Amino acid sequence: MCAVGSSKVPKANKMSAAEHTIETSFMLAPMTTGPNDKHNFGAIATGLDLDSISDIDVAALSNAIWKHKLVVVKAQKHIHPAKQWDLVTRFDPKAPQVHSHGDVKSFNIKGGLLTKGRNVTAIPGVENVRIVGKGFQGKIHYGLENLSIEKNPLHDWHAVPLAEEEFETGHTRFQRWHLDAPLYDRDPAWFTTLRCVHRPLSPQVTVHWDDGSGQKMSVSPGLTAFFSNVQTYGLLSEDEKAFADNSWVEYAPHPYMWLGDSQSSPNGLGIWGDGKELSLEQVGEYDASKVKRYPMVWVNPVTGERAFMVHGICVRRMFLRRSQEEDPVVVDGLPEIRAWLRPIQERVLRPEYIMVPELDEGDIVMWANYQLFHSAIDYPSKMGARTMHQANIGASIGPTGPFPVPVVV
Ligand SMILES: [Fe+2]
Repeated sequence: MCAVGSSKVPKANKMSAAEHTIETSFMLAPMTTGPNDKHNFGAIATGLDLDSISDIDVAALSNAIWKHKLVVVKAQKHIHPAKQWDLVTRFDPKAPQVHSHGDVKSFNIKGGLLTKGRNVTAIPGVENVRIVGKGFQGKIHYGLENLSIEKNPLHDWHAVPLAEEEFETGHTRFQRWHLDAPLYDRDPAWFTTLRCVHRPLSPQVTVHWDDGSGQKMSVSPGLTAFFSNVQTYGLLSEDEKAFADNSWVEYAPHPYMWLGDSQSSPNGLGIWGDGKELSLEQVGEYDASKVKRYPMVWVNPVTGERAFMVHGICVRRMFLRRSQEEDPVVVDGLPEIRAWLRPIQERVLRPEYIMVPELDEGDIVMWANYQLFHSAIDYPSKMGARTMHQANIGASIGPTGPFPVPVVV
C-alpha cells in the first residue's frame, strides 16, 4: 500500500493531463488479482471521510478514479446521502446540478428500458441519489417509510429465458453491459458512485453466459461486474484500431424508449433479434440537436489511454472510416451495426477480464464511466434485501476522441 501523497498524481478534475505533486491524506492500494486474472484496473482507498473531505483529496480521488478506472472507498457507513451527492458535484463542479438521467419524475416517464417494471426512488431531499436494490428497505430509510422494491428478475431483459427453478438455485447472469449514459441531451457522467448500504453476503451465485460458450464465474450476491474498454481497445487488431479511432456512432433519440420490446443476448451484451425497435415516428417528438454522436474511442483525460466506448444496443447509425481523410461509410442497418460490434465487444467478455469488486456495508465504489462497462447481477430474493445508493452527474464536458467528430455528414 502506498500513500497517494507520496507519489506524483495528476492535477485535479479539469479534464487535463497535467501532473503535479499534491498532498493527500488517504491511502490507495491497487486491487490484487488472481493468477488467472487479466483485468488490470481497480484500487482501494482507505483513510477518507467523505463527511469532511478536503478539496485536495477530492482532486486526488478524481485522478485516482481516472487512473485506476475504479476505486472502492472504504468505510463510509456514517455519511448522509447528501454527502455522496456533494462529492459527485465536486468531481465536476461545472456540470449542471442534476443526475445524468434527469429528475426522477421525467426519468420514470421517459426512461424506457431503464425504468421498465420498476419505479426509481430518490432519497427525500437528495433527489439525485437514487436507491438501487431489491426487497424491503427498512421501516425508515432516510425518510422513506416501509419502502419495498419489487421488480421482475433482471434477466427478463434477455431473449433466452432463464428458468425460475434454475435462478432459485443460484444460476444467474449479467443483466446488461453498459455505461451510465442518457445518450440524448445530457452527456454521460465521468464517474458513477454506488454506496453499498446493505446486501446479502452469501451464498455465492454463479453467473452463466448461457450463450453456448459454457463460460461462468462464481460471485458474491448483490454486487456489480465490470470490464475495461481500454482492454477492449487493446484487443483490437491494428486495422480495427484504425477504424475505431476514426469512426463514430449516432445514438437513437430517446434511445431507451426507441429500443421498444428489444431483448438482449443471454450474456447481457448486445441485442438478440432485430426489428423490435420503435420507428422514429413512434418515438415521438425529439430535438435533433440533442441526438448524440460520439467517437467510438474515448480518450482518458488523465492517462491518455484509449477505450472502445460504444453502447451498442442504442446505436442507430455508424460512420466508419479508417482515416480522417476518408469519407465515412454510413451503416444504418441495425443487423449490420450489431454484427460489426459484437465480435469486437465480446472479445473481452471472458471471466479473466471481468472484475466484481467486493463491497462491505458503507463502501462506495466509484468508476470511470468513460472507460468501463458494468452490469448488475441478480440473485434470488430469498437471500435477502439489497440497498445501494447511486449518484452521478451529467458531465460538463462530453467524451473526447482521438480526432474530432465532424459536425455534419
Ligand atoms: Fe449502470
